[in-house]
Amino acid sequence: MRKTLTTLHHMVRDGEKIVALTCYDASFAKLLEEAGVDILLVGDSLGMVLQGRESTLPVTLEQMVYHVECVARGSTQAFIVADMPFGSYQDNPQQAFRNASQLLRAGAHMVKLEGGQAMLETTHFLVERGVPVFGHLGLTPQSVHQLGGYRVQGKAEADAQQLQQDAVDLCAAGASLMLLECIPAALAHAVTKAISAPTIGIGAGPDCSGQVLVLYDLLGIYAGKAPKFAKNFMQGATSIQQAVEHYVADVKGQRFPGPEHSF
Ligand code: KIV
Repeated sequence: MRKTLTTLHHMVRDGEKIVALTCYDASFAKLLEEAGVDILLVGDSLGMVLQGRESTLPVTLEQMVYHVECVARGSTQAFIVADMPFGSYQDNPQQAFRNASQLLRAGAHMVKLEGGQAMLETTHFLVERGVPVFGHLGLTPQSVHQLGGYRVQGKAEADAQQLQQDAVDLCAAGASLMLLECIPAALAHAVTKAISAPTIGIGAGPDCSGQVLVLYDLLGIYAGKAPKFAKNFMQGATSIQQAVEHYVADVKGQRFPGPEHSF
């Protein structure tokens, strides 16, 4: 049976961690959900891991629609989330709705938007019109040039307070999941307690409601040094399927992420 937002909220209520992974095609969609992954995130990270770009900024709406369609064709069970690419939602809420509707038509069940206060009006506008919104706070890769690189966010007290306020306000505006990327574990813990929406962490410590990784990081495919929050699950596995099963078991069993993957 297809997982829904209600399924995910019930998992949190029952103390079960949510497992998410990025996914960009039909074959992996089938494999990942058969291994027990709850959320398939068609992330704009595809710009980096599939297209070889230096950032996610060049990814277009048309490319996202294509990959969402591929994932949706391979999937029967998972909850599918699509990233709204850079420039497809920041103008105004009407632009965001027009473009989000294309991603939902392609097979996504929810869209993910990066940003805090600047996204409140758009979040409310989308949710009022039936588009579920996944907030994304902390290291927001579409703002890499503003942030001065891929760095841990929310370390200073004022930044941490602002991030927590952003999470509270986005939930009040209707966001029903919250991605927390590269922030101190203690801050992610505080945000998770402060909001009713499940939090999904990447580089945000063990206390989020669930975890996400970029599929290629889990498979040990990265150029140069692995990010601190990543783990190569191919080590000790005899197949890709088994590596993903180990990731699912380690997140559900609260063995991943460990302190060595957290800030
Ligand atoms: O695009 C992406 O892969 C993401 C990650 C943070 C999971 O948003």
